[in-house]
Amino acid sequence: MLNFSLPRLDKDEELSSYLRKYCRLRPGDIWEDKQSGHKVGCLDATDIKAVQKFFGYDKAVLAIQDPPYNLVAFKKRNVQNFIKWCVKWVQTSDMVLTDNSSLYVWLGADQKNNLEPFADFILMMKSSNLNIRSFITMRNQRGYGTQKNWMSVRQELLYYIKGNPVFNTKFVYTDIPKVVKGYFKEISGKKTENLERSKSDKIRAGNVWIDIQQVFHLMEENVNGCFAQKPLKAIERIINVSSNKGDIVSDYFSHSGTTLLGSERLSRICYTIDIEPIYCEISIRRIENYRTNGKIGWQNSNPFAEEIAYDKKLKSYLENKYDITVPQNL
Ligand SMILES: C[S@@+](CC[C@H](N)C(=O)[O-])C[C@H]1O[C@@H](n2cnc3c(N)ncnc32)[C@H](O)[C@@H]1O
Repeated sequence: MLNFSLPRLDKDEELSSYLRKYCRLRPGDIWEDKQSGHKVGCLDATDIKAVQKFFGYDKAVLAIQDPPYNLVAFKKRNVQNFIKWCVKWVQTSDMVLTDNSSLYVWLGADQKNNLEPFADFILMMKSSNLNIRSFITMRNQRGYGTQKNWMSVRQELLYYIKGNPVFNTKFVYTDIPKVVKGYFKEISGKKTENLERSKSDKIRAGNVWIDIQQVFHLMEENVNGCFAQKPLKAIERIINVSSNKGDIVSDYFSHSGTTLLGSERLSRICYTIDIEPIYCEISIRRIENYRTNGKIGWQNSNPFAEEIAYDKKLKSYLENKYDITVPQNL
């Protein structure tokens, strides 16, 4: 099996500028999918007019937002400026959500730095139109800060709602079988054990998710070049629980296109945006690759493999700088 990966694109502007010429979208452009009705916009999530135009009269029942809280650019910003920026994309999210809808926000809580920006974000959200409903923690397999501290393995996921949104409880279960017995309760005069009473023989995910593997390079869903991919299983859990087939799901920080792919697989319509043309292109290619090859990522390859193979300049750049061997035949 060939292993033809890409380095992190956000860390290499020269490589990114080579790749941008292979991207369909320029800033301001919108791609409309003829097959399932998805849209990908190369837009700024905080630009009210651009987002309004992108949605037209359409509204989403679910927004899944994963802002770049840990990018170098944001480390340079202080937390107040970061929060001011969040206020803007929360407003543009709210603006296109129906009266009965859900907003999920992935956010970091840096234990080396006053748990920023998590605490500041939840305080700011108290004055938004959305109400907090739950605070989910997903357990990562890799972490940081193991020297004289508890390793940080948390991924925080905030769940906000407006009105009375859909919540499909049949999808809240994990794949983990229930094994603990002995919780007895009397029902209509009969002593019942908890397994007899429950709707499923699997345990509920609850608001601590321990059953989802963090994305890493050996997984089929891995998208080489991306650096902040969320697991498809987590995104599909959210989509299944908080929307129905045919609903519009929005994601303003598309990156590797996980929400777009999850929406495609679960028969939702995804309106997603990213400010960077390369991530818009990767997102589009991710569903195209899924439709053509049935693959959910590029474990041993990358989204620009074909272009790299025939673009001599790009090929020699990668071979010289990263010691990547570009395969002869793809
Ligand atoms: C943390 S990643 C999202 C990861 C995504 N959930 C996934 O599974 O691949 C954040 C993305 O937000 C994009 N971004 C940053 N600022 C933005 C803005 N103002 N508007 C739209 N996208 C932005 C970045 O280009 C990056 O791709």
